[in-house]
Amino acid sequence: MRAVDIIINKRDGKELTPEEIRFFIGEYTRGEIPDYQAAAWLMAVMLRGMTPRETADLTLAMAHSGQTLDLHDIAPLVVDKHSSGGVGDKVSLVVAPLVAASGLPVGKMSGRGLGFSGGTLDKLESIRGYRVNLSVDEFRAQLRQIGIVLSGQSMDLAPADGKLYALRDVTGTVPALPLIASSIMSKKIAAGADAIVLDVKMGRGAFMQTIEDARTLAQTMVGIGRNVGRKCVALISDMNQPLGHAVGNALEVKEAIDTLHGGGPKDFREHCLVASAHMLLLGRKVGSVEAGEKLAAQLLDSGQAWDKFEALVRAQDGDVEMIERPERLPRARLVQDVPAPRGGYIAGVNAAEIGLTSVELGAGRAKKGDPIDTAVGLIAHRKVGDAVSAGEPLFTIHANDEVKLASAEKRLLGAVEWSDAPVNSLPLFYGVVE
Ligand code: URA
Repeated sequence: MRAVDIIINKRDGKELTPEEIRFFIGEYTRGEIPDYQAAAWLMAVMLRGMTPRETADLTLAMAHSGQTLDLHDIAPLVVDKHSSGGVGDKVSLVVAPLVAASGLPVGKMSGRGLGFSGGTLDKLESIRGYRVNLSVDEFRAQLRQIGIVLSGQSMDLAPADGKLYALRDVTGTVPALPLIASSIMSKKIAAGADAIVLDVKMGRGAFMQTIEDARTLAQTMVGIGRNVGRKCVALISDMNQPLGHAVGNALEVKEAIDTLHGGGPKDFREHCLVASAHMLLLGRKVGSVEAGEKLAAQLLDSGQAWDKFEALVRAQDGDVEMIERPERLPRARLVQDVPAPRGGYIAGVNAAEIGLTSVELGAGRAKKGDPIDTAVGLIAHRKVGDAVSAGEPLFTIHANDEVKLASAEKRLLGAVEWSDAPVNSLPLFYGVVE
């Protein structure tokens, strides 16, 4: 078999055989297929799509490109969650410790920023010393000891996804349904979780722009999970505007810390409670979503979720001082408010534009392996439906470069849509797929 023929087949819209998919993924993982061929293949998949059978085969090939974990000697039931990617999406930082605080082990393999969306690993790395590259032995030992791990893909789990993920980020091949579904589900299958809550984002700051596409992605992933014996639930959630207020790595960690202390933005707290409730339900800690939300609120407000987060950061060598005193997290040199140019009601806050502004400030990558600046980003103070007076701060930009600061200001003002008449706020969730 030759990689170029597989690229040509996909380019011409043919259905790839399981053997072709296994060959391509296996050889790419081993370094026998170079990035330029993989990039061409990704673009062909992006433009031509994949059948459900191809997507399932791709997922399994990626899941088995390295080791797979069986965690049943550690716990009878391990839960996990994964987001399809959004702007201001720091949900894992709150939900993972919250659920672990209930006694349900959470072993999570997270990703880096992708396109305009942020990544949990980049956020965690704003905490000095935090190690995202645990070995399989360390992953297992930590899960046994403290019941929570938030780690990356440097261990030998789904290495094909690790490589393809970084390549997709810089080749315009992120928003393809089969690539997102296989990326997420291969990691989940390899990391050994029995029950998985999938947070499928829909809207302008998501890779799925319509409810129909989000539902198809949700159904695809839930179906793949079911076929390999994992319990999966997908929540379809809004990503037309950023979640919470903070966008950018250290700023998001700070907002997650506020939330873990029982504060934080209302929409973000509510989102975390609902996602946690579904994990608690799948993990049989509660009998209904309502009971899950109640338990989640107790775990948050009693400080137990915070204690678990602190234990996590300590276990992965992060500087605990930094999270206890978040003013010690990386801070940008230039902090500037952007005042509202007019009064009225907020009709839209284009989340993709907000995400791209944050990337341009340095919070994301333009090229594979680029360093990021964990200090930069922005605070979006207002939500769709809010009444705003002229001159009040709409955004606060955190930058380390004057030119980027000026460009961000322009871009952010262009991301806001106005109305003279009252506007309804946006829902947090659009549905559940089981
Ligand atoms: N999260 C992932 O892990 N992969 C994607 O492709 C998108 C979001």
